[in-house]
Amino acid sequence: MTPPRIAIYGAGMVGNYLGGRLHAHARVRLIARPPIASSLNEHGLTVSDLHGYRQYIPAAALDIATQPDAARDATVVLVTVKSASTMQAAHELADVLAPGTLVISFQNGLRNTADLRAALPSCQVLAGMVPFNVTQPEPAHFHQASSGTLVVERSKALAPSLLAAFDASGLRLQQHDDMQAVLWAKLLINLNNPLNALSGLPLREELAQRPWRQCLALLQREGLQVLQAAGIRPAQLTALPMHWLPRVLSLPDALFHRIAARMLAIDPLARSSMWDDLQAGRRTEVDYFNGEIVTLAKSKGMRARMNAHIVALMREAEQSHVRWEGHALLKALRDAGSVA
Ligand SMILES: NC(=O)c1ccc[n+]([C@@H]2O[C@H](COP(=O)([O-])OP(=O)(O)OC[C@H]3O[C@@H](n4cnc5c(N)ncnc54)[C@H](OP(=O)(O)O)[C@@H]3O)[C@@H](O)[C@H]2O)c1
Repeated sequence: MTPPRIAIYGAGMVGNYLGGRLHAHARVRLIARPPIASSLNEHGLTVSDLHGYRQYIPAAALDIATQPDAARDATVVLVTVKSASTMQAAHELADVLAPGTLVISFQNGLRNTADLRAALPSCQVLAGMVPFNVTQPEPAHFHQASSGTLVVERSKALAPSLLAAFDASGLRLQQHDDMQAVLWAKLLINLNNPLNALSGLPLREELAQRPWRQCLALLQREGLQVLQAAGIRPAQLTALPMHWLPRVLSLPDALFHRIAARMLAIDPLARSSMWDDLQAGRRTEVDYFNGEIVTLAKSKGMRARMNAHIVALMREAEQSHVRWEGHALLKALRDAGSVA
């Protein structure tokens, strides 16, 4: 089989991790912003995971580019920009991709695939989902900090050579028929991202504290009510059905640790990418996570007050580095939720 020519469009945390894993099994080109390209050129690329995998690729062996044109001869493009950058990426790709090119969105959020499809009508665009966290412990080193299997929309466009490359890289692609259900389920899990950013704590430490888990449970319960009203059934991504998660999260610490030890199978220092965004002074993706619950609620004549409150707090946090205690945020959410 001829190895696929894969362009990673927006090589950041997720893109460099996927690109590094695929490097030995496909012809990978990393299309990155100039500062990231310089870092890769200086250090080479290291990818590692929490299970002990580690691989170093010297800079001379990497194919690094900074211009959209570099995606022109790709047979597959993995889009790994943040949701707010999707439209710009889509327009840039529209100018260079050949008809029939396979484009996979490995992004969080619900609208990226539709936006890419609208801008790239002659390409085959598929939804994907990255279940794990990626961190950058040192420059040009991208580390998978939690476990999970990549999911992609089932399609005949997924060539055997592409599936084989992912398999060989150790990142199996699990095909799914209902990606909106998968993306909604991921969004419910991602409701923790702003909480993690507001806590200022590593994920494991945050989730070990009951008040933070209770905050997440409130946001998920509200989200699940809105989804039910809209007739949307989220896929099951964890060992437990999604509607059980709020109950498990609310358990006292000792019981939670016993039942959900696997939920905490995450590197001790890992944090959400929203925390990274706050540190870097970037706008976060909160509109594409909690904001989607608020929008769906409105469309059903409902109010998602607690998720709306989190969107507002994140807007504040983007301006000034506010940190919250779990108890204080739990009270603020309960107050927001009890407004008549
Ligand atoms: N990080 C995680 O642990 C994780 C896990 C699962 C899913 N996800 C999701 O995966 C997506 C990507 O997240 P990420 O954390 O990898 O983001 P990231 O680290 O910010 O990487 C995206 C990179 O793409 C660049 N970019 C944006 N527009 C571009 C363009 N037109 N051309 C070239 N480069 C461009 C960005 O540069 P600028 O900063 O200049 O825009 C950034 O360097 C998000 O939807 C996120 O929610 C992330």
